Amino acid sequence: MNLVKIEALVPGMIVSRDIYNQSGLLIVSEGTKLTSDYINKLINWNIREIYVEEPSSSMVEQQEALIAAQMTVTHDRVIGIAENILTQGNVEMIDPALLQGMVGDLDKQIELSSNVLLNLSHMKTYDNYLFAHSVNVCVLSLIIGKAIKLSTEQLRELGVSALLHDYGMIQLERSIYEHDRKLTEEEWEKVKCHPRYGYDMLRASGNFSEEMLSGILDHHERYDGSGYPSGKSGDEIGLYGKIIAVADVYDACVSMRKHRPRLTPHEALRNLLGNSKSYDLQILKAFLTAMAIYPIGSIVKLNSGEIAKVVGINYGQPFRPDIRILIDRQGNCLELPIRLNLNEQEYSQTYIEEIVEGAALEQVYSLLEKNGVNLSAYP
Ligand SMILES: [Fe+2]
Repeated sequence: MNLVKIEALVPGMIVSRDIYNQSGLLIVSEGTKLTSDYINKLINWNIREIYVEEPSSSMVEQQEALIAAQMTVTHDRVIGIAENILTQGNVEMIDPALLQGMVGDLDKQIELSSNVLLNLSHMKTYDNYLFAHSVNVCVLSLIIGKAIKLSTEQLRELGVSALLHDYGMIQLERSIYEHDRKLTEEEWEKVKCHPRYGYDMLRASGNFSEEMLSGILDHHERYDGSGYPSGKSGDEIGLYGKIIAVADVYDACVSMRKHRPRLTPHEALRNLLGNSKSYDLQILKAFLTAMAIYPIGSIVKLNSGEIAKVVGINYGQPFRPDIRILIDRQGNCLELPIRLNLNEQEYSQTYIEEIVEGAALEQVYSLLEKNGVNLSAYP
């Protein structure tokens, strides 16, 4: 029996405990198979969660597909807003209440889906890196914020701060932030001013708390004092700034940029760990734990020789994620990838031997492509 939030219900689930309304009247009885009609009624009755029978694996997939679709809609909406904010450049047009509502929607979906990061990777197709990056950093910051148990109020503030962290970029010439290229020395000096620009502009509006503003000002400061614009160190850096710093660097590493290769999620985590002096250790640890050793989207090799993609995290079991086997031990692409949860008893003898990276990863991608397997079609 599972307690499921109302947003995550899909038609076909079986109710496993009688549901009563606030006046104590039985409204849906145990054993009822949910339809869209029933789900709408439960929403209208303001029921927040109900018990349903253990779902079959196909139902889990259906449920995840539904959440992924909802997330795409929310992300599109938030990206649209980020685009408006960053192109209009009118600080008076930014409505903090609207942004907090958006952050709330993202936050709710993070709770519902273990595939947040996979869904994020679908957003990389947007032309302008800055808009998608703002939303990604917001989601990643919320993941960290939840891991270190921030309050709902703090999460809203952190999320807005993360959404606006690069707001100061609009003070720079468009050619600096719109084009995906290596910057000249002179341009780089200007870029270093963007946290201060963003802070000053948003502060002048009087609509943002000092904590939110400090997240924007401090997101390029580093724990060891090596950051900019002020070279703050340790706890001189605000909490939100420390969190956004980790989220920002991670997303920049895994994003597709023309002037440097994109890192795999695993390489990006290793990169963060390799520079651990730059970050608050508690924040970095929380992020690594939440992201798991094998982040969603990684391609891994099993001890059986099969190649699989990590599609879900089992919290507390970082070495045993949900995977989907794509290539069998003879090196043939499976027509229908097999999904399995390494955390289940029956797979106790199966384990991940290594992350597939570099040239081997390129080979896997080209084999999948040759066989018409679309990786993103198999969350
Ligand atoms: Fe930045």
